[in-house]
Amino acid sequence: MDPFQQILKSTLARTDDAPPAIKPQALLEAELKPRIAHVAVDDFLSLAKARRTIYTLGKDLPIAEDEVVDIIKEAIRQAPSAFNSQSSRALILLGKEHDRFWEMVRDQLRKVIPAESFHATSDKLDGFAAAAGSVLFFEDQEVVTHLQRQYIAYADNFPVWSEQSSGIAQYAVWLALAEKSIGANLQHYNPLIDLDVRAAWQIPESWKLRAEMNFGSIVAAADEKSYIDDDKRFIVAR
Ligand SMILES: Cc1cc2nc3c(=O)[nH]c(=O)nc-3n(C[C@H](O)[C@H](O)[C@H](O)COP(=O)(O)O)c2cc1C
Repeated sequence: MDPFQQILKSTLARTDDAPPAIKPQALLEAELKPRIAHVAVDDFLSLAKARRTIYTLGKDLPIAEDEVVDIIKEAIRQAPSAFNSQSSRALILLGKEHDRFWEMVRDQLRKVIPAESFHATSDKLDGFAAAAGSVLFFEDQEVVTHLQRQYIAYADNFPVWSEQSSGIAQYAVWLALAEKSIGANLQHYNPLIDLDVRAAWQIPESWKLRAEMNFGSIVAAADEKSYIDDDKRFIVAR
């Protein structure tokens, strides 16, 4: 049976077994209220606009490190994933561990970039190391292959959906940090650094590194951003 049908059937079966009592509207609203964020769409869109790539970051976080960690975890926890497979994983690095990570990247890049042009790369890495921390986003391939075996008809889709889930998780974290006036930028030194990262922080073999996000205090604003025309981008039909 189609997996979506299966999910639908099991949901219906549960409600068939014990039909829910009809609740008064006021009770329903009260129950739903805590699930609806107290954020107006305009506020959400302002936040979406405020989230930018910030390259000049510092170590003076405006909130406690533990709070930042909780925000990152919750943003990833609440991010959607195909079949609620929750394939996203994260390594959150702070303080000396963050610095250690960027030294690791520097060591690997030194091996592949000609010495005469390495200073530019090294300066860039200094900028990343100047941030307060980093989030390394992984996707657990064990989850992906398990789903592929379970739902053969969708086998080709699961790796794609896993990548999409990772992107959503990254964006969720980026937005949540922006709301706390914490700047961030997104980097991709994987797969060059995968083995070093795995060894340094005992990362399970099935975790595939997808992106590295630096975060910290905003020392300099983002560059101006340009936008392509709406008519190249959107089709509205009614
Ligand atoms: C999938 C993806 C990959 C990206 N990779 C990098 C990257 O490797 N290095 C980098 O500096 N920025 C990277 N960025 C950031 C983009 O350059 C940036 O989001 C874009 O220029 C728009 O700017 P904004 O983030 O300020 O809105 C990436 C963004 C996305 C969504």
